[in-house]
Amino acid sequence: MVVIGASENLVSLLVESAKILVGNELTTANLRVDDGRITEVSKLKPSEKTDVRINAQGLIALPGMIDAHVHLRDLEFSYKETFETGTQAAAVGGFTTVIDMPNTRPPTITGTSLATKMANAQGRLYCNVAFQGNLTDDPNELREMLTQGAIALKFYMNKTLETFDSSDDLKLRNALRNAKESGALVTVHAESGAEIRRIQQKSVAEHKTTVRDFLRAHSPQIEVSAVRRILNLNTRVGARLHVCHITIPESVRLVRRSPNATCEAAAHHLLLNQRIFSSQGTLAICVPPIRAEVHRRGLLRQFLSGQVNILASDHAPHTLDEKNKENAFEAASGVPGLETSLPVLFTQVSNRKLTLCRFVEATAILPAKIFGLTKKGWLKEGYDADIVLVDPKGKAKIDPERFLTKAKYSPFKGMRCKGTVAYTIVNGSVVAERGEILGPSVGRVTKGNRICDSS
Ligand code: NCD
Ligand code: ZN
Ligand code: ZN
Ligand code: ZN
Repeated sequence: MVVIGASENLVSLLVESAKILVGNELTTANLRVDDGRITEVSKLKPSEKTDVRINAQGLIALPGMIDAHVHLRDLEFSYKETFETGTQAAAVGGFTTVIDMPNTRPPTITGTSLATKMANAQGRLYCNVAFQGNLTDDPNELREMLTQGAIALKFYMNKTLETFDSSDDLKLRNALRNAKESGALVTVHAESGAEIRRIQQKSVAEHKTTVRDFLRAHSPQIEVSAVRRILNLNTRVGARLHVCHITIPESVRLVRRSPNATCEAAAHHLLLNQRIFSSQGTLAICVPPIRAEVHRRGLLRQFLSGQVNILASDHAPHTLDEKNKENAFEAASGVPGLETSLPVLFTQVSNRKLTLCRFVEATAILPAKIFGLTKKGWLKEGYDADIVLVDPKGKAKIDPERFLTKAKYSPFKGMRCKGTVAYTIVNGSVVAERGEILGPSVGRVTKGNRICDSS
């Protein structure tokens, strides 16, 4: 298997004899890339002239995965993750584009803070990165974030990012209306903060601070009622809504009944249940939390059938010190997911629980469609050369110590997987090979173009 090497000024690349998906069938084809674009997908013998050649026999070429929910941190949270470590983790994990979240320090709540963050990220990225701003009820600030290229506007029902009081129906409806008028996609963390705080305060006052107590404060009902509230508020507005990290089958049913809404699920919610806490304790804490088996099983069924639209990692790195706390309410919530999502999900493909078609739809085609990444999500002529070559026979045991993310822990630790990333190609350059970064930092700041006629 010869890779001549990735270079910044790469002209052409040939992926030879890869298996590609055509309809429901895998067929052998060659892929040609010129100047960062896919220029040919064909069965014909490829021309000899190329700068880089990859023998992809035995590998499956898929459109690079797009992760709609990633916390790259950086700025004042660089001790948790940087643009370099986060996007390197993404690249070795098979992701060619990730969407960054606004809950950084400083938070991404204005056009200026978004522009500063983008400028900071420039030249430091190993995959493409689009950025979300935080939803605001200030119509000017909202427009400015979209003008700067925010791909979507995030909104946390569990806390406020200092933009407006989300418990106020009137303010929230105004914000949704502004988003709708600008043609922006609104993404939402659906858990009711007021209820969580009420239960948490009572629990802490009674010295009940175990993981079990934490789970009680983040009950399924708290998610379902928040999903119901936001969908109801949006009925008369009709903004495009995307519900983040959904975990409860009832929430998914509510989303499905709404004409303007989509949703995502994370691998840890699809494949793990609350038994994980007996071995991992607070390390496995995230919000919404990993659920009981009955919810997990229902959610996975909805994911397999496409009722949950897409997979998203919710890669949320923290330090081990922040995670390991006696008091579960004081433990930082969030688990890394960029380096585990493909192997654990592809194992479902290997075991014939998940079709390859649906895998590609959930990891590339639909994320591109929902977030308006028009040149991504497909291995087709004219599309961006963002490609992942998967070794379907590759075996791996999840080993957090070998992660490239700074967060070297995982609820999937020790899991045996079948299906690994052999190569990741970003904008026509081979960035990663079997867990290692070949460089260079060819990722681009990817801007949204959501400001449009208010159709
Ligand atoms: C996320 C984080 O750490 O930023 N944590 C998490 O548990 N999911 C925040 C979030 O996505 O809600
Ligand atoms: Zn969230
Ligand atoms: Zn998140
Ligand atoms: Zn429009």
